[in-house]
Amino acid sequence: MANSTQQDSKNLVGWIDARFPLSSTVKAHITEYYAPKNFNFWYFFGALATLILVIQILTGIFLTMNYKPEASLAFASVEYIMRDVSWGRLIRYMHSTGASMFFVVVYLHMFRGLMYGSYKTPRELIWLFGVGIFLVLMGEAFFGYLLPWGQMSYWGAQVIINLFTSIPFIGPDISLWLRGDYTVSDATLNRFFAFHVIALPLVLLGLVMAHLIALHEVGSNNPDGVEIKKNKDPKTHIPLDGIPFHPYYTVKDLMGVSVFLIVFTAIIFFAPEMGGYFLEANNFIPADPLKTPAHIAPVWYFTPYYSILRAVPPILNSQFPGVAAMGLSVVSFAFLPWLDRSPVKSIRYRGNLYKKWLAAFVVSFLILGYLGTEPSNVWGQFSANIPLLGGADRATVVARIFSVVYFSFFALMPWYTKRDKTKPVPERVTG
Ligand code: HEM
Repeated sequence: MANSTQQDSKNLVGWIDARFPLSSTVKAHITEYYAPKNFNFWYFFGALATLILVIQILTGIFLTMNYKPEASLAFASVEYIMRDVSWGRLIRYMHSTGASMFFVVVYLHMFRGLMYGSYKTPRELIWLFGVGIFLVLMGEAFFGYLLPWGQMSYWGAQVIINLFTSIPFIGPDISLWLRGDYTVSDATLNRFFAFHVIALPLVLLGLVMAHLIALHEVGSNNPDGVEIKKNKDPKTHIPLDGIPFHPYYTVKDLMGVSVFLIVFTAIIFFAPEMGGYFLEANNFIPADPLKTPAHIAPVWYFTPYYSILRAVPPILNSQFPGVAAMGLSVVSFAFLPWLDRSPVKSIRYRGNLYKKWLAAFVVSFLILGYLGTEPSNVWGQFSANIPLLGGADRATVVARIFSVVYFSFFALMPWYTKRDKTKPVPERVTG
C-alpha cells in the first residue's frame, strides 16, 4: 500500500515535472540552494518581512470584505469591523500592528545590510529592488492610513499632499491628481483605496519577486562578507561554506518566526495602540474637515524624515527645500553601493571610521525619529542672551544638527570608507 502511494506521488510529481519545472525549482531554490553556514540573528528579518507581507495581504482581504471606501461610511465601517464582525477586531489589529512591525523588521533588515555591506558588488540590484520595496511600502502605509477616515487620517493626508504643492511647476498638478479634488474628499478616499488594495500591492509583490530572484542569482552575503562561491568542492561544485537552505534555514527561520509571533500576538492582545505609536488617539475621532487637530504627527516610522522636513527652513516662502531634503533622506539609500569605497564588506573587518559613522547615523535616525513625534517646541527656546541661538527653538536646532549628521553619513562615505583602516578578510567564513 505504502509503496503504491509512493509510486503514485512519484508519478504525479513526474507528471507535473514533464509539464512544469516543479522538482528542479524546489531543488534550485530550496533543497539544493546553498546558503552560507554562518548566518546569525540579523538574517532572520528577510524571512520575517516575507511572513508579514503574507499576513498583511490575508488580513487586508478580510478587512476589504467589510470596509466601505466612502467618506460618509468609512469610519463607521471600521467600527463595525471592530465591534460586530466575527474576529474583526483581531483581523484589524493584526493589520494595523502588522504595518508597524513591517517597518520594524524592514529597518532591522536594512541595518543588517549596512553592517555587512550587503549592498556592495555583486548585490547592488538586490539592494536597489530593496529600496524600491521600501518606497512602495511607505506609499502603502500612507495610503492605508487615510482609509479609517479618522482625524489623523484626514489631516495627515492633507498635510502631506499639500507638501507636494511646493514642487516647482508640476507640484500643484501632482497634489490635485493625488486628491482627485481641491481638498481631501470622498474622491481622495476612493483613489487611496484603489492604490492601497491593488495598485501598490501588485508592485510590491513584483519587487519582492525581483528581490529574491536577484538574491538567488548571486547568493547571500554573510556576517564575514566572504563570497562562499569562491571556495567550491572541486568534485561536487558545492560551496565549502554553504549548507542547503532546507532543512537548515527553514528550521532556523521557524525559530525566528516563533519568537516573532510571540511578540506580535502580545502586542495585538495587550497593546494594539502601543501608547499611540501604532494607532494614534486622534484617529478614533471621525474626520472633521472643519476642525484641525492641535498637533498633527505622522506614525512613528515616518518621523525621522518628517523631522528633516521641519528642520529645513523655507526659502523665499517656499517649503520646497524641506520637501526635497525629506525626499533625498529616503532616496539616499539607493546610492550606497556607489558611495561605499571600502575594499571590505563586513563591519567585522572595517576600521573605526565606518563604525563610528554608522553609530552616528543610527543615533541621528533615532533622535530625528523621536523629535518627529513631538510638537516642534517640545524643549522650549534658548534664552535670549545666547549669541546666534538666542530665542531659537531648541528642538529645531537639535533636529538641524542631526539632519546634518544624517546626510553626512551618505555624503562623506566615499571619503571615510576609503580612508578607513580595514583588517584582512579571511578566505573562509569564521562561523
Ligand atoms: C517586503 C520587504 C522585504 C522582503 C519580503 C525581503 C525579503 C528578503 C529575503 C527573504 C532575503 C533573504 C534572507 C535574508 O537575508 O534575511 C533578503 C535579503 C536581502 N534584502 Fe530584503 N526584503 C525586503 C525589503 C528589503 C529592503 C527595504 C532592503 C534594502 C533597502 C533589502 C535589502 C536586502 C539585501 C541587501 C539582502 C541580501 C542580504 C545579504 O545577503 O546579506 N530588502 N530580503
